[in-house]
Amino acid sequence: MSEEQFTLWQALLEERTGMTLAKERKTFLETSLHIRMRELGIENYDDYYDMLMVGDSGSRAMEWSTLVDRLTVQETSFFRHPDSYALVEEFAQRFLDDRSDGESLDIWSVGCSTGEEPYSLAMTVREQFEAHNAGDYYGITATDISMPTLSKARKGVFPARKVEQIDPRLREKYFEKLSDREYRVNSLLRDRICFARVNVLDLQKAPMRDMDLIFCQNMLIYFRRWRKRQIVTRLAERLAHGGVLVLGPGEITDWQHPLLERTYFGDALAFRRVSEQAG
Ligand SMILES: C[S@@+](CC[C@H](N)C(=O)[O-])C[C@H]1O[C@@H](n2cnc3c(N)ncnc32)[C@H](O)[C@@H]1O
Repeated sequence: MSEEQFTLWQALLEERTGMTLAKERKTFLETSLHIRMRELGIENYDDYYDMLMVGDSGSRAMEWSTLVDRLTVQETSFFRHPDSYALVEEFAQRFLDDRSDGESLDIWSVGCSTGEEPYSLAMTVREQFEAHNAGDYYGITATDISMPTLSKARKGVFPARKVEQIDPRLREKYFEKLSDREYRVNSLLRDRICFARVNVLDLQKAPMRDMDLIFCQNMLIYFRRWRKRQIVTRLAERLAHGGVLVLGPGEITDWQHPLLERTYFGDALAFRRVSEQAG
């Protein structure tokens, strides 16, 4: 791949996903494109690039969706950052102590990957609702740009090595063992989560509003600073009054928003919405 071609592919990926691809990842890009081009019987990068730019919009969109899945980093795990989940647990407790009748707790997992994050949120919140005899008045919307990733998340089937790291009490309660190699999340969790495709570059089209908790970790690290700030600002506007935005530790620095104040809990990076209006 020539430097010129690399620059074109880099720009396309950033324009459509927000992700920047460092020069050191050129080999990764070449390998991923090669594999996909071989599957399609395409011989050179320029023909494949053209295929993504011209032709009927349906097949372009489908091909782009497959490619994005190959080029994005989907690494994730259950309860990835324990202090962030401890914060969610405390938030749910307080919500249950203060809530008015019938009020539901609405959570959004942004960049949810294969589902470990929304399922961990569901376990955390459900445990609190059960302890308070509060029924199922909570729901999680989990979104990602990658369709194949979302379809894995929906299935809720995970390798044993990942599930076996979860607290045995929660594992027993929320997973069924399919074989020595795999477990499946049961309906207690699955029924509370709605998975949908949302590109964070198009947040203006996303219907989520008045969320109590927005969890967005390990996605913005691949974005430029200005874009990261723009997205976090848009997420802040989707919080309910009193709602909390949880990012990954260190993911944004020197950032303030007129609607939000920083909230401290262990080494979690979180902001609470304190005003109704900007300014
Ligand atoms: C490294 S995973 C993080 C998963 C999970 N949040 C965690 O912390 O473990 C990053 C996810 O962000 C998604 N992603 C990347 N660009 C995106 C975009 N523009 N809109 C929505 N999701 C995106 C990727 O598909 C991937 O699943």
